[in-house]
Amino acid sequence: MVDPVLKWAGGKRQLLDELYARFPAEFDTYHEPMLGGGALFFDLEPEAAVVNDTNPRLAGFYRQVRDRPADLLTVLEGFADPGSDPDPDRPFTDTDRRDRAVTNYYYQQRALFNRRPNDEAFDELEEAALLLYLNRTCYNGLYRENQRGEFNVPVGRYANPDWVRSEAVRATSEVLAGTPVLERDVAYVRERANPGDLVYFDPPYEPMSPTANFTEYSAAGFGREDQQRLLELAQELDDRGVSVILSNSGVTFEMYEDAGFYVGTEGATRAINSDADSRDEVDEVIATNVAPADRGERGQLRLDRY
Ligand SMILES: C[S@@+](CC[C@H](N)C(=O)[O-])C[C@H]1O[C@@H](n2cnc3c(N)ncnc32)[C@H](O)[C@@H]1O
Repeated sequence: MVDPVLKWAGGKRQLLDELYARFPAEFDTYHEPMLGGGALFFDLEPEAAVVNDTNPRLAGFYRQVRDRPADLLTVLEGFADPGSDPDPDRPFTDTDRRDRAVTNYYYQQRALFNRRPNDEAFDELEEAALLLYLNRTCYNGLYRENQRGEFNVPVGRYANPDWVRSEAVRATSEVLAGTPVLERDVAYVRERANPGDLVYFDPPYEPMSPTANFTEYSAAGFGREDQQRLLELAQELDDRGVSVILSNSGVTFEMYEDAGFYVGTEGATRAINSDADSRDEVDEVIATNVAPADRGERGQLRLDRY
């Protein structure tokens, strides 16, 4: 029952009860191949799990949190307020690598974080610390990359941003202990999941309309073809006796129903737009191959959350 340490677009905290209601009565290893903020994984605290995200900086972050929480907190304690002056002892004090003016400490840290896609040497611990720092100080807590794979979210406006978060980092580290964190394409789960395991897929949502497009978690994106191969992957796992639960946007309802999954719709307001008045109301679907008779009492077990 740990809250996500990162704010991540598409976070599933509001959907936890509906997801638990589809859980099989029993399962062996839990797999979450599109982890993002990992709302379900961190709430569940599974005994045996494998997690993954194709975003290498996110996967690296979780490995550092898992393995070096104290070192990570020490680095975080050394960061300064986003609005303060750039650190004169580090690179990017005046301009970033695209010659844009670095007007404050935040933009210097953003430029440092973007070492990785630009093939410069980077330090894994520092990158992880920067990810959390930027997540707590950037505009709206968004993670977004441009076509070059650079993190490009502007500075946010917070009275007292808190980026050290000792308790959250330690709790996250404990949940991750012993859990492999991979950074592969979702297809790896084909080899890792065994009959009796449970896989929860939470892909970037298929847009409801061209204007409701939000799939920019990474430069690579997740398009229509990816949605199709994800469906095929879910079917393959189903054939092999793996339990599958998947959340997606309402437009995928028929796709999963036609493939023989149990599909339910959930109304949910996803806080992606910063302007509260224009937040898209998105109907989400949850598809699963777990038959109602095979579901467990987990919904009731989770009453301790109230
Ligand atoms: C909707 S988010 C997951 C949100 C998460 N359930 C939460 O509670 O925060 C989708 C995640 O899938 C990842 N992703 C995108 N394409 C992927 C792929 N091909 N394989 C694995 N992960 C992928 C993205 O980096 C993103 O973090």
